[in-house]
Amino acid sequence: MPAIVIVGAQWGDEGKGKIVDIYTERADMVVRFGGGPNAGHTLVVGGEKLVVRLVPSGILRADTTCVLAQGMVIDPRSLVTELDELERRGIRTVDSAGERRLLVSDRAHVILPYHVLVDGLREKGKGAIGTTKRGVGPCYEDKVARRGVPLGAFRDPARLRELVTRAIEAWTPIIRDLGEAPPSVDETLAAVEPSRARILPLLVDSQALVERAVREGKKIVLEGAQGTLLDVDHGTYPFVTSSTPTAGGACVGAGVGPTRIDEVVGLVKAYTTRVGGGPFPTELHDDVGERIRKVGAEFGSVTGRPRRTGWLDLPALRYAVRVNGLDALAITKLDVLTGLDEVKVCVAYDTPRGRTRDLPMDELDHVTPVYESFPGWKQDLAGARTMAELPAEARSYLELVEREAGCPFILVSVGPARDETIVLRDPFTTPGR
Ligand code: IMP
Repeated sequence: MPAIVIVGAQWGDEGKGKIVDIYTERADMVVRFGGGPNAGHTLVVGGEKLVVRLVPSGILRADTTCVLAQGMVIDPRSLVTELDELERRGIRTVDSAGERRLLVSDRAHVILPYHVLVDGLREKGKGAIGTTKRGVGPCYEDKVARRGVPLGAFRDPARLRELVTRAIEAWTPIIRDLGEAPPSVDETLAAVEPSRARILPLLVDSQALVERAVREGKKIVLEGAQGTLLDVDHGTYPFVTSSTPTAGGACVGAGVGPTRIDEVVGLVKAYTTRVGGGPFPTELHDDVGERIRKVGAEFGSVTGRPRRTGWLDLPALRYAVRVNGLDALAITKLDVLTGLDEVKVCVAYDTPRGRTRDLPMDELDHVTPVYESFPGWKQDLAGARTMAELPAEARSYLELVEREAGCPFILVSVGPARDETIVLRDPFTTPGR
């Protein structure tokens, strides 16, 4: 039974919520392997919207185990808010056998109030990169500097105090330099104390849990957050997040060896969006960009910021196919392009050194996209369940994308509802490799 990895192939917000939801319907376990409350999925429960930042959308399936793995950074207060919301809506975090089905790695790192403070203060300055200000970057900094606080420290208040004291000492000159007073150890501990008791029973050795599930042949979805171009190693550095949202990050963040992964699916929107600063060569600054933002409801689910919008970038997509080793692509939000007179797609770049079909990562501020143009379509796509039911113009667009990306489609999403989907292959029953 396969373990599949789902990653964003662009700058995040590729519509993971819906696709992960489709794949988790039959999954035994869904694992978030990186990032933290900088992500956000909007779930619809009984007609009511619920935004989750940490908990995977698999929580809506009564018998799916949801794991927050050690590659994540977790703000205990955000997690408890989500737990409260789930409870309020009657979503149970134990399965039908009475087993806990929401589990959190004791090695995931804790986002503490000083991380959020530093993230916010830095964003006021010249070096701002448009983060979500949730403390994600500073928390990963502490982890790599080997002065972070793993959630397991919640079991031992003396150790927790010691680790927090050490981290605050390190942050103090930086916070002062940013014009603020550092928080005291006591107030920091007091801020997390109410969530400590709620989180303690959820803590597990998630690596052992996930690896056992893999060995037992369970169906597992390793759910990425953010996207390839936000990867700290492979993205548009320094305008990136501080984790590894690419497929390799699934292995590291969940503690699953690469040989155990059966399939890697990349999600790509039929156009491109980006939140925050950084290069975006196919960005639109006109009515078409505005229309895509409006029709596609392209506003950040964490910060509410309007997303920057632009045409699909095939050099970037080819890059994502390579860097993640994608077996298949799920293309989302094709319906958002309906009604445009013309649909464009970037097929290459003109750079100071000539034309290239690759993504000139180091020169993105100095390139000119080369576009191919397609006639648009006016027909509503929502009812299409096969490729043949799509208008010929939409089909030609998809054919070009698939050919140029060099990666087959596994799914085409033609509307926000879960059944508004053309399913071409089921990764659980017909693995791609
Ligand atoms: P951070 O992850 O909050 O440090 O933000 C770093 C960059 O990643 C900013 O440009 C954010 O807008 C972007 N980012 C972080 N998480 C997401 C996400 O889930 N979707 C889209 N962009 C994100």
